[in-house]
Amino acid sequence: MEKLEAALAKAREMRRSALSASHPVRDRTGVRDRPGNDWLALPEITLTPDIITRGRISALSGGRDATPYDLLRSRTYRLMKEKGWSRLAITSPGTACGKTTIALNLAISLARQRDLRVMLLDLDLRRPSLHKMLGHVPESSFHEVLEGRVAFGEQALRIGANLVIALNTSKAQNPAELMQSAATRRALDEIERSWQPDLMLFDLAPMDAGDDYVNFLGNVDCALLVAAAESTTLANIDICEKELAQLTDVLGIVLNKCRYSDDSVGYNYEAYG
Ligand SMILES: Nc1ncnc2c1ncn2[C@@H]1O[C@H](COP(=O)(O)OP(=O)(O)OP(=O)(O)O)[C@@H](O)[C@H]1O
Ligand SMILES: [Mg+2]
Repeated sequence: MEKLEAALAKAREMRRSALSASHPVRDRTGVRDRPGNDWLALPEITLTPDIITRGRISALSGGRDATPYDLLRSRTYRLMKEKGWSRLAITSPGTACGKTTIALNLAISLARQRDLRVMLLDLDLRRPSLHKMLGHVPESSFHEVLEGRVAFGEQALRIGANLVIALNTSKAQNPAELMQSAATRRALDEIERSWQPDLMLFDLAPMDAGDDYVNFLGNVDCALLVAAAESTTLANIDICEKELAQLTDVLGIVLNKCRYSDDSVGYNYEAYG
Protein backbone atom coordinates (compact mmCIF):
# COMPACT_ATOMS: atom_id res chain seq x y z
CA MET A 1 0.00 0.00 0.00
CA GLU A 2 2.82 2.37 0.85
CA LYS A 3 4.45 1.62 -2.50
CA LEU A 4 1.17 2.32 -4.26
CA GLU A 5 0.73 5.64 -2.46
CA ALA A 6 4.29 6.60 -3.31
CA ALA A 7 3.73 5.73 -6.98
CA LEU A 8 0.53 7.81 -7.11
CA ALA A 9 2.26 10.73 -5.41
CA LYS A 10 5.19 10.52 -7.83
CA ALA A 11 2.92 10.45 -10.91
CA ARG A 12 1.01 13.46 -9.54
CA GLU A 13 4.22 15.33 -8.79
CA MET A 14 5.56 14.73 -12.31
CA ARG A 15 2.36 16.09 -13.83
CA ARG A 16 2.41 19.12 -11.52
CA SER A 17 6.03 20.02 -12.21
CA ALA A 18 5.49 19.72 -15.99
CA LEU A 19 2.61 22.19 -15.66
CA SER A 20 4.21 24.55 -13.18
CA ALA A 21 6.80 25.90 -15.66
CA SER A 22 4.15 28.09 -17.29
CA HIS A 23 1.72 28.06 -14.37
CA PRO A 24 3.93 29.15 -11.49
CA VAL A 25 1.75 30.77 -8.86
CA ARG A 26 -2.02 30.60 -8.69
CA ASP A 27 -3.42 34.04 -8.01
CA ARG A 28 -6.78 33.56 -6.30
CA THR A 29 -7.53 37.25 -5.94
CA GLY A 30 -10.51 37.68 -8.26
CA VAL A 31 -11.19 35.81 -11.48
CA ARG A 32 -11.37 38.63 -13.95
CA ASP A 33 -7.84 39.97 -14.09
CA ARG A 34 -6.03 36.70 -13.88
CA PRO A 35 -3.56 35.37 -16.41
CA GLY A 36 -4.65 32.79 -18.94
CA ASN A 37 -7.31 32.90 -21.64
CA ASP A 38 -10.34 35.11 -21.18
CA TRP A 39 -13.16 33.12 -19.55
CA LEU A 40 -15.66 35.88 -20.18
CA ALA A 41 -15.14 35.58 -23.94
CA LEU A 42 -16.79 32.12 -23.91
CA PRO A 43 -20.52 31.93 -24.74
CA GLU A 44 -22.76 31.75 -21.69
CA ILE A 45 -25.48 29.13 -21.15
CA THR A 46 -28.76 30.39 -19.74
CA LEU A 47 -30.38 28.13 -17.19
CA THR A 48 -34.13 28.51 -17.56
CA PRO A 49 -36.48 27.51 -14.71
CA ASP A 50 -37.49 24.44 -16.73
CA ILE A 51 -33.86 23.30 -17.14
CA ILE A 52 -33.21 23.92 -13.46
CA THR A 53 -36.17 21.77 -12.43
CA ARG A 54 -35.67 18.95 -14.91
CA GLY A 55 -31.91 18.83 -14.31
CA ARG A 56 -32.34 18.75 -10.51
CA ILE A 57 -30.07 21.80 -10.30
CA SER A 58 -30.39 23.00 -6.74
CA ALA A 59 -27.01 24.57 -5.94
CA LEU A 60 -27.42 27.88 -7.79
CA SER A 61 -28.02 29.83 -4.61
CA GLY A 62 -27.53 28.98 -0.96
CA GLY A 63 -30.39 27.60 1.13
CA ARG A 64 -31.93 24.31 2.15
CA ASP A 65 -31.87 22.63 -1.26
CA ALA A 66 -28.24 23.58 -1.84
CA THR A 67 -27.03 22.47 1.60
CA PRO A 68 -26.02 18.90 0.70
CA TYR A 69 -24.00 20.12 -2.28
CA ASP A 70 -22.49 22.97 -0.28
CA LEU A 71 -21.36 20.47 2.37
CA LEU A 72 -19.88 18.23 -0.31
CA ARG A 73 -18.19 21.30 -1.80
CA SER A 74 -16.63 22.38 1.48
CA ARG A 75 -15.33 18.93 2.37
CA THR A 76 -14.04 18.19 -1.12
CA TYR A 77 -12.42 21.57 -1.52
CA ARG A 78 -10.82 21.46 1.92
CA LEU A 79 -9.25 18.07 1.25
CA MET A 80 -8.05 19.09 -2.22
CA LYS A 81 -6.69 22.44 -1.08
CA GLU A 82 -4.77 20.83 1.79
CA LYS A 83 -3.01 18.59 -0.71
CA GLY A 84 -2.63 21.20 -3.46
CA TRP A 85 -4.81 19.12 -5.83
CA SER A 86 -6.86 20.52 -8.70
CA ARG A 87 -8.35 17.57 -10.62
CA LEU A 88 -11.31 15.52 -9.40
CA ALA A 89 -12.99 12.63 -11.22
CA ILE A 90 -16.55 11.56 -10.44
CA THR A 91 -17.58 8.01 -11.23
CA SER A 92 -19.83 5.21 -9.99
CA PRO A 93 -20.03 1.42 -10.04
CA GLY A 94 -23.00 1.32 -12.43
CA THR A 95 -25.29 3.57 -14.47
CA ALA A 96 -27.73 6.20 -13.25
CA CYS A 97 -26.29 6.59 -9.73
CA GLY A 98 -26.41 10.38 -10.13
CA LYS A 99 -22.81 11.23 -11.16
CA THR A 100 -23.76 13.91 -13.66
CA THR A 101 -26.32 15.51 -11.35
CA ILE A 102 -23.80 15.61 -8.51
CA ALA A 103 -20.91 16.77 -10.72
CA LEU A 104 -22.98 19.68 -12.07
CA ASN A 105 -24.34 20.76 -8.70
CA LEU A 106 -20.92 20.43 -7.07
CA ALA A 107 -19.37 22.57 -9.83
CA ILE A 108 -22.12 25.19 -9.45
CA SER A 109 -21.74 25.22 -5.69
CA LEU A 110 -17.94 25.62 -5.95
CA ALA A 111 -18.38 28.44 -8.47
CA ARG A 112 -20.54 30.37 -6.01
CA GLN A 113 -17.16 31.10 -4.46
CA ARG A 114 -16.40 33.96 -6.82
CA ASP A 115 -12.63 33.76 -6.46
CA LEU A 116 -12.51 30.15 -7.67
CA ARG A 117 -12.30 29.27 -11.35
CA VAL A 118 -14.01 25.93 -11.88
CA MET A 119 -14.23 23.67 -14.93
CA LEU A 120 -16.65 20.78 -15.43
CA LEU A 121 -15.59 18.57 -18.33
CA ASP A 122 -17.81 15.83 -19.75
CA LEU A 123 -15.60 12.75 -19.92
CA ASP A 124 -18.45 10.32 -20.39
CA LEU A 125 -17.53 9.56 -23.97
CA ARG A 126 -19.98 6.66 -24.24
CA ARG A 127 -23.37 8.02 -23.19
CA PRO A 128 -22.85 11.73 -22.54
CA SER A 129 -25.77 13.41 -20.82
CA LEU A 130 -24.54 16.69 -19.36
CA HIS A 131 -25.71 18.55 -22.49
CA LYS A 132 -29.22 17.14 -22.01
CA MET A 133 -29.24 18.19 -18.38
CA LEU A 134 -28.26 21.72 -19.44
CA GLY A 135 -30.65 21.72 -22.41
CA HIS A 136 -27.84 22.82 -24.71
CA VAL A 137 -26.53 21.32 -27.95
CA PRO A 138 -23.09 22.75 -28.82
CA GLU A 139 -21.84 22.63 -32.43
CA SER A 140 -18.97 20.31 -31.55
CA SER A 141 -18.20 17.79 -28.83
CA PHE A 142 -15.51 17.89 -26.18
CA HIS A 143 -14.12 14.58 -27.47
CA GLU A 144 -13.17 16.50 -30.64
CA VAL A 145 -11.03 18.78 -28.46
CA LEU A 146 -9.33 15.70 -27.02
CA GLU A 147 -8.80 14.38 -30.55
CA GLY A 148 -7.13 17.69 -31.47
CA ARG A 149 -9.80 18.57 -34.06
CA VAL A 150 -11.39 21.55 -32.27
CA ALA A 151 -9.90 24.24 -30.04
CA PHE A 152 -11.13 24.32 -26.45
CA GLY A 153 -11.94 28.02 -26.81
CA GLU A 154 -14.33 27.20 -29.68
CA GLN A 155 -16.04 24.41 -27.80
CA ALA A 156 -16.32 25.45 -24.16
CA LEU A 157 -19.21 27.36 -22.63
CA ARG A 158 -19.67 29.07 -19.32
CA ILE A 159 -22.24 29.50 -16.59
CA GLY A 160 -21.67 32.86 -14.90
CA ALA A 161 -18.16 34.32 -14.78
CA ASN A 162 -16.19 31.49 -13.24
CA LEU A 163 -17.66 28.12 -14.26
CA VAL A 164 -16.60 26.70 -17.61
CA ILE A 165 -18.35 23.63 -19.02
CA ALA A 166 -17.35 21.34 -21.90
CA LEU A 167 -20.09 19.12 -23.33
CA ASN A 168 -20.35 16.16 -25.66
CA THR A 169 -23.33 15.76 -27.91
CA SER A 170 -22.14 12.56 -29.54
CA LYS A 171 -20.38 9.41 -28.45
CA ALA A 172 -16.65 9.22 -29.28
CA GLN A 173 -15.68 6.51 -31.76
CA ASN A 174 -13.15 4.75 -29.55
CA PRO A 175 -13.97 6.00 -26.06
CA ALA A 176 -11.64 3.71 -24.10
CA GLU A 177 -8.66 4.35 -26.38
CA LEU A 178 -9.27 8.10 -26.47
CA MET A 179 -9.69 8.38 -22.70
CA GLN A 180 -6.42 6.56 -22.11
CA SER A 181 -4.45 8.24 -24.91
CA ALA A 182 -1.46 10.55 -24.72
CA ALA A 183 -3.52 13.00 -26.82
CA THR A 184 -6.07 13.30 -24.00
CA ARG A 185 -3.34 13.80 -21.43
CA ARG A 186 -1.74 16.53 -23.55
CA ALA A 187 -5.09 18.21 -24.27
CA LEU A 188 -5.99 18.37 -20.55
CA ASP A 189 -2.55 19.71 -19.65
CA GLU A 190 -2.86 22.34 -22.38
CA ILE A 191 -6.34 23.38 -21.17
CA GLU A 192 -5.02 23.73 -17.60
CA ARG A 193 -1.97 25.65 -18.78
CA SER A 194 -3.80 28.14 -20.97
CA TRP A 195 -7.08 28.60 -19.06
CA GLN A 196 -5.71 28.29 -15.53
CA PRO A 197 -8.67 26.86 -13.63
CA ASP A 198 -8.34 26.29 -9.90
CA LEU A 199 -10.40 23.11 -10.09
CA MET A 200 -11.16 20.68 -12.92
CA LEU A 201 -14.07 18.26 -12.38
CA PHE A 202 -14.47 15.28 -14.70
CA ASP A 203 -17.84 13.60 -15.15
CA LEU A 204 -16.94 10.01 -16.11
CA ALA A 205 -18.84 7.00 -17.43
CA PRO A 206 -19.76 4.32 -14.87
CA MET A 207 -16.99 1.85 -14.07
CA ASP A 208 -18.95 -1.10 -15.46
CA ALA A 209 -19.18 0.54 -18.90
CA GLY A 210 -15.62 -0.33 -19.88
CA ASP A 211 -11.99 0.15 -18.94
CA ASP A 212 -11.99 3.88 -19.89
CA TYR A 213 -11.17 5.00 -16.38
CA VAL A 214 -8.19 2.71 -15.78
CA ASN A 215 -5.39 4.75 -17.32
CA PHE A 216 -7.40 7.96 -17.44
CA LEU A 217 -7.27 8.25 -13.67
CA GLY A 218 -3.54 8.89 -13.96
CA ASN A 219 -4.63 12.33 -15.23
CA VAL A 220 -6.44 13.29 -12.03
CA ASP A 221 -5.49 13.86 -8.41
CA CYS A 222 -8.47 12.19 -6.78
CA ALA A 223 -11.95 10.74 -7.29
CA LEU A 224 -15.40 10.59 -5.74
CA LEU A 225 -17.40 7.38 -6.01
CA VAL A 226 -21.16 7.88 -6.32
CA ALA A 227 -23.41 4.98 -5.34
CA ALA A 228 -27.21 4.78 -5.53
CA ALA A 229 -28.79 3.71 -2.27
CA GLU A 230 -31.36 1.31 -3.65
CA SER A 231 -29.48 -0.10 -6.62
CA THR A 232 -25.75 -0.31 -5.82
CA THR A 233 -24.88 -3.28 -3.60
CA LEU A 234 -22.44 -2.94 -0.73
CA ALA A 235 -20.24 -5.60 -2.33
CA ASN A 236 -20.12 -3.57 -5.53
CA ILE A 237 -19.24 -0.36 -3.67
CA ASP A 238 -16.47 -2.23 -1.90
CA ILE A 239 -15.00 -3.74 -5.08
CA CYS A 240 -15.15 -0.44 -6.97
CA GLU A 241 -13.70 1.58 -4.10
CA LYS A 242 -10.75 -0.83 -3.86
CA GLU A 243 -10.25 -0.74 -7.62
CA LEU A 244 -10.37 3.07 -7.68
CA ALA A 245 -7.95 3.28 -4.76
CA GLN A 246 -5.39 1.37 -6.84
CA LEU A 247 -5.54 4.12 -9.44
CA THR A 248 -5.99 7.40 -7.56
CA ASP A 249 -6.90 8.84 -4.15
CA VAL A 250 -10.54 8.23 -3.27
CA LEU A 251 -11.82 11.37 -1.53
CA GLY A 252 -15.04 9.72 -0.44
CA ILE A 253 -18.18 7.81 -1.35
CA VAL A 254 -21.40 9.68 -2.01
CA LEU A 255 -24.47 7.60 -1.27
CA ASN A 256 -27.10 9.17 -3.52
CA LYS A 257 -30.83 8.63 -3.81
CA CYS A 258 -31.24 7.88 -0.10
CA ARG A 259 -34.91 7.68 0.80
CA TYR A 260 -35.83 9.46 4.00
CA SER A 261 -38.93 9.03 6.10
CA ASP A 262 -40.67 12.00 4.48
CA ASP A 263 -40.11 10.22 1.12
CA SER A 264 -37.67 12.84 -0.12
CA VAL A 265 -34.41 11.64 -1.68
CA GLY A 266 -30.95 13.04 -1.17
CA TYR A 267 -27.48 11.80 -0.38
CA ASN A 268 -24.94 11.08 2.33
CA TYR A 269 -21.22 11.50 2.01
CA GLU A 270 -18.45 9.54 3.61
CA ALA A 271 -15.10 11.30 3.37
CA TYR A 272 -11.64 9.84 3.75
CA GLY A 273 -8.41 11.51 4.63
N1 LIG B 1 -30.77 12.42 -5.35
C1 LIG B 1 -31.55 12.06 -6.37
N2 LIG B 1 -32.83 11.74 -6.15
C2 LIG B 1 -33.66 11.36 -7.14
N3 LIG B 1 -33.28 11.26 -8.43
C3 LIG B 1 -32.01 11.56 -8.72
C4 LIG B 1 -31.07 11.99 -7.73
N4 LIG B 1 -29.88 12.21 -8.32
C5 LIG B 1 -30.08 11.97 -9.64
N5 LIG B 1 -31.35 11.58 -9.89
C6 LIG B 1 -31.93 11.20 -11.18
O1 LIG B 1 -31.38 9.94 -11.57
C7 LIG B 1 -31.21 9.89 -12.98
C8 LIG B 1 -29.75 9.58 -13.29
O2 LIG B 1 -28.98 10.69 -12.85
P1 LIG B 1 -27.61 11.07 -13.56
O3 LIG B 1 -27.78 11.19 -15.04
O4 LIG B 1 -27.05 12.21 -12.82
O5 LIG B 1 -26.81 9.74 -13.24
P2 LIG B 1 -25.45 9.23 -13.88
O6 LIG B 1 -24.81 8.39 -12.84
O7 LIG B 1 -24.68 10.36 -14.41
O8 LIG B 1 -25.99 8.32 -15.06
P3 LIG B 1 -25.12 7.66 -16.23
O9 LIG B 1 -24.49 6.43 -15.64
O10 LIG B 1 -26.14 7.34 -17.28
O11 LIG B 1 -24.09 8.66 -16.65
C9 LIG B 1 -31.65 11.23 -13.52
O12 LIG B 1 -32.99 11.11 -13.95
C10 LIG B 1 -31.56 12.15 -12.29
O13 LIG B 1 -32.47 13.24 -12.38
MG1 LIG C 1 -23.78 10.67 -16.28
